[in-house]
Amino acid sequence: MKRIMGWAVGAAVLIAIGVFVVRVVFEDPHVAKGRAIFSQYCTGCHGDKGRGDGFNAHNLDPGPRDLTDRVEAFMADSTNEDLFKGIREGVSGNFPVAAGEKAAHPKKEVKKGEAAKKGEEDEAGGSPLMPYWGYTLSEEQIWDLVAYIRTLHKNSADKIKFKEAAGEEKKPSVSRPQPVTFPDLNSAEGQKMAVEGQGLYETKYSCTGCHRIGEKGGQIGPELSRAGFRMNAAWMYQWIQYPQAIRHDTKMPAFNMPEVDAKPVVMYLKTLRATAAESPGPPSGKGPT
Ligand code: HEC
Ligand code: HEC
Repeated sequence: MKRIMGWAVGAAVLIAIGVFVVRVVFEDPHVAKGRAIFSQYCTGCHGDKGRGDGFNAHNLDPGPRDLTDRVEAFMADSTNEDLFKGIREGVSGNFPVAAGEKAAHPKKEVKKGEAAKKGEEDEAGGSPLMPYWGYTLSEEQIWDLVAYIRTLHKNSADKIKFKEAAGEEKKPSVSRPQPVTFPDLNSAEGQKMAVEGQGLYETKYSCTGCHRIGEKGGQIGPELSRAGFRMNAAWMYQWIQYPQAIRHDTKMPAFNMPEVDAKPVVMYLKTLRATAAESPGPPSGKGPT
């Protein structure tokens, strides 16, 4: 009897090792790439297994989507194209589309006349806490993410057809920030811009989802209560639009903001001048330890 048990356990272990080896050797290369990109940029909010339970999730309202559909079949009902657009453009309607391009999640419009009567569903209105990645990741990388996310929930979506990348992989095109001048922080213009910038920071771009100011906000990026002392305006202006130009593997997404948004956001950051005693921790580029 003991011997049979021993054999059974041995066989089970061998099967488990076999399954693991098969997965590593035969896993779709796109799924494997998607998994790696996901762990670089997404797990802080969505969790290691995509369950919406990353270390930063408790700071977010609404919380990150559970990509495994444990409670409702949300992901299962989305097409591959829906997922691609959601990752590329976010779901808030704030993605700055290139001229001539159509946004997947257009800004909420007040419906009038016929459309209102028909009660058409409006797709927009998702949370800006889901950042847009279209200026950080290439289209191929976003498709890799879709391929990986499809392994996290039951679905009957079509298999993604990857075009074999011919030569250089297409990288997102970000307009390089031009040098700008900033008004004096204490001038009326400076004050007005800083107030506007706070609104953009908290709502349109939801920087709050990743950064704390005092006790409020997320913990993926450094705490910013002393940003106004620590960093100069020109550097911040560059950084917030295209951080990858400064640190290529940073987890902060490229926003590619227009100048009319980027300047006020920087003016707001310049006002953050808490004393060391008021600031909860030393600045660090790391997540929680
Ligand atoms: C700062 C936190 C945060 C990060 C980082 C983040 N997400 Fe999200 N994500 C969210 C939130 C919050 C939602 C829910 C949005 C809503 O319901 O309005 C969401 C929703 C989604 C959805 C569902 C979209 C939909 O239609 O509702 C997908 C897919 C997704 N995220 C994928 C990703 C991928 C892939 C990455 C990494 C490249 C990523 N997320 C990084 C916070 C985050
Ligand atoms: C998905 C998370 C995320 C979002 C959203 C985000 N950041 Fe960041 N941010 C980071 C991370 C991570 C770093 C640290 C950079 C590094 O070390 O790679 C950072 C660094 C910074 C820094 C430099 C801080 C320092 O102490 O060096 C500034 C300034 C900053 N972010 C401002 C912003 C602003 C303004 C927004 C909104 C427009 C924003 N961030 C949105 C993740 C994020």
